[in-house]
Amino acid sequence: MLFSSNGVLYPTLGLVFCVTFIYMSSKENFFQIVVNSQMSSFVMRNGTQFMVDGKPFYVNGWNSYWLMDHAVEDSSRPRIKAMFQAGAKMGLTVCRAWAFNDGTHNALQVSLSHFDERVFKALDYVIMEAGRYKIKLLLSLVNNLDAYGGKPQYVRWAIKDGISFNSSEDSFFFDPVIRSYFKIYLKTVITRKNHLTGIEYRDDPTIFAWELMNEPRCISDPTGDTLQKWIEEMAGYIKTVDKNHLVTVGLEGFYGPRNTPEKLSINPSKWYDSTGTDFIRNSKTPAIDFASVHIYADQWLIGAELEEKMKYINKWIISHIEDGNKELKKPVLLTEFGLSDKNKNFDHSHRDKLYKSIFDIMYKSARENGAGAGALIWQLMVQGMEKYTDDYVIVPGDRPFIDKLVKKQSCRLLALQDAKQMRTHKQNVDQICS
Ligand SMILES: *[C@@H]1O[C@H](CO)[C@@H](O)[C@H](O)[C@H]1NC(C)=O
Ligand SMILES: *[C@@H]1O[C@H](CO)[C@@H](O)[C@H](O)[C@H]1NC(C)=O
Repeated sequence: MLFSSNGVLYPTLGLVFCVTFIYMSSKENFFQIVVNSQMSSFVMRNGTQFMVDGKPFYVNGWNSYWLMDHAVEDSSRPRIKAMFQAGAKMGLTVCRAWAFNDGTHNALQVSLSHFDERVFKALDYVIMEAGRYKIKLLLSLVNNLDAYGGKPQYVRWAIKDGISFNSSEDSFFFDPVIRSYFKIYLKTVITRKNHLTGIEYRDDPTIFAWELMNEPRCISDPTGDTLQKWIEEMAGYIKTVDKNHLVTVGLEGFYGPRNTPEKLSINPSKWYDSTGTDFIRNSKTPAIDFASVHIYADQWLIGAELEEKMKYINKWIISHIEDGNKELKKPVLLTEFGLSDKNKNFDHSHRDKLYKSIFDIMYKSARENGAGAGALIWQLMVQGMEKYTDDYVIVPGDRPFIDKLVKKQSCRLLALQDAKQMRTHKQNVDQICS
């Protein structure tokens, strides 16, 4: 790690690498020469700010959870390049994706601690391609939900192997044997040596940060103690294996009853008080470098009108940015936001309005050196992925207005970064913005 417990950044040299290599595509059996010459540095933090190369780094980015999955097969692999190309064209610099697939089709982990090399190679490819487009990856390491396996899959495996006996999904958090298996998973992924670049994941600045879990909840223990212990153990463990990367939890952002009873009124409803999570307590964990928040007003305020949702979304985000400023003194990244097209009376202008409002909050925070570090759209896909779509998907190129809006946000954040930096050297992305 590159900052002390009080959040002071120690100056460090960014990793400079220049790799030339040759690899053989196993299936098609031809040689391809890839020359990858770039300067890239790890993302660090100084208090509430992300920093790259000693200057502030503000995030405009997106989610494409499916990248590794679609990189496995020859037929779908071109989508990875197409996605990064489309993202880079809008000036986006961070993409959040799954670095897990536990026991489902094209699984990375096929059973406890057994990995499919073919799928690891797909993840290697995703990381290499991201680097080529100067996009950093926020990689999530397991799902709370059952999509792509998730914590229920670990529990089923453990029971089948006769090493755990409680079928509660939350035994993923409290069973010591399952926890030790998850640590094997963490270590295997984090120390993976990319067969295309030769760089271990833990040494690769293309990776923005590690996310412990997508949207953890531990309903069986509403006090929050079980999840808190798990977070401390797993984040601490990652730090022993990887000294370079930031770590976040992957929280949605609900406040808990024990530590912040005064904030419960900000939760979407009383039900969310007892998800076993606590935004402040969990994010304060010393090995956690930044906080994450999701916002889904369409799911949390069912049936509400757009105006009411917009008001709630603003309140939710601003409250969490204030927590970052005052309580946590860490950056706060909005890692998922979007608007469902299944809403009654949906119109694309609603999405435009929501995006703009969120972008404005983030820009304002950045201008004021606040903890609001940026936002990731849920989610982007490319043409031809209709089979995988959900009601939040945006396909770049489909609606020029929203593409322009997204690009405008990238450009004003980049301009702000340039304005704040001491040295003056031209941004690569300038050509996109001019
Ligand atoms: C970190 O932030 C503090 C306070 O904003 C600032 O004074 C200091 O120069 C920063 N350190 C670096 C290395 O940027
Ligand atoms: C399994 O764990 C849950 C949650 O902690 C607990 O309520 C339950 O009693 C446990 N069941 C068994 C059979 O130990």
